[in-house]
Amino acid sequence: MNIAVLGTGSVGHTLGSKLVERGHTVMMGARSESNERAAAWALGAGPLASHGSFARAAAFGSVIINCTSGTASLAALEMAGADNLAGKILMDVANPLDYSSGRLRLTVVNTDSLGEQIQRAFPRTRVVKTLNTMNCQVMVNPGLLPGQHAVFVSGNDAQARAEVAGYLKDWFGWPAVIDLGDITTARGPEMLLPLWVSLMDVMDTTIFNVTIVR
Ligand SMILES: NC(=O)c1ccc[n+]([C@@H]2O[C@H](COP(=O)([O-])OP(=O)(O)OC[C@H]3O[C@@H](n4cnc5c(N)ncnc54)[C@H](OP(=O)(O)O)[C@@H]3O)[C@@H](O)[C@H]2O)c1
Repeated sequence: MNIAVLGTGSVGHTLGSKLVERGHTVMMGARSESNERAAAWALGAGPLASHGSFARAAAFGSVIINCTSGTASLAALEMAGADNLAGKILMDVANPLDYSSGRLRLTVVNTDSLGEQIQRAFPRTRVVKTLNTMNCQVMVNPGLLPGQHAVFVSGNDAQARAEVAGYLKDWFGWPAVIDLGDITTARGPEMLLPLWVSLMDVMDTTIFNVTIVR
C-alpha cells in the first residue's frame, strides 16, 4: 500500500521504517521538498522509501499518517492540501502539547481536541485518532511490553475505525484495539498525555503503556 507519513521527527522515522519493513511504499512529507531529515531517512530506508513535500506525500498516500507537531498539525495539513486528503483515512497520532510556558499544557482540551479540529478542518477526510498514547517504539512493537495493553481508535466513520484497527494489527501486531467511538472521544486519549509525561518521569523509561482491566 502507498502510505504517506507526514512528519520528519522520531515518530515519522519509526513508523515509516516499520511500514517499509512490512513491504509498504512510504513517502515521508515535510514542509520542504528537500528536507534533510526526510532525505536521510529515505536514503537509509531503501527503495520502498521516498520523500517530498507534505502535498506530494499526501497525494501519494492511500492512507495518511499525521506525525507532525500537534501545535503545527493544522498548518501542516493545510500545506498537504484538502484535495489530496479527501476521501482518505488520516491516522492522527499527534498530541497538542505546548511547553512554551516551561510547563506542559494542552492547547485544546475538555470540550474539543486536536482530532476534532482536524476533522472539522478537513470534512472530506476520514480522521481516526490513534497511537498517540504511547512512545513510538511501542506503537510499532507492542510486544516490547508483556500482556495486552491499550491502543484506542476514535473517529466519526465506523468503517474507517475498523480499517485502522486492521492496519494496527497487520502492520504493527496490535492484537486488540479499543474502539472508543466518534471523534469527540479523542479528547480522552489526548488528555492522557499529562499522565503519560508524569509516568515517564517516575518510570525512568518511555517504554510503558496503560492497561485496561475489568
Ligand atoms: N515521540 C513519540 O514517541 C510520540 C508518541 C506519541 C505521539 N507523539 C506525537 O507525534 C507527533 C510527532 O512527534 P515527533 O517528536 O516525531 O515530531 P515533532 O518534532 O513533534 O514534529 C515534527 C514535524 O512537525 C512539522 N512542523 C513543525 N512546525 C511546523 C509548522 N510551523 N508548520 C508545519 N509543520 C511543522 C515538522 O516539519 P518539517 O519536517 O518541515 O520540519 C516535522 O515534520 C507529535 O504531535 C507528538 O506529540 C509522539
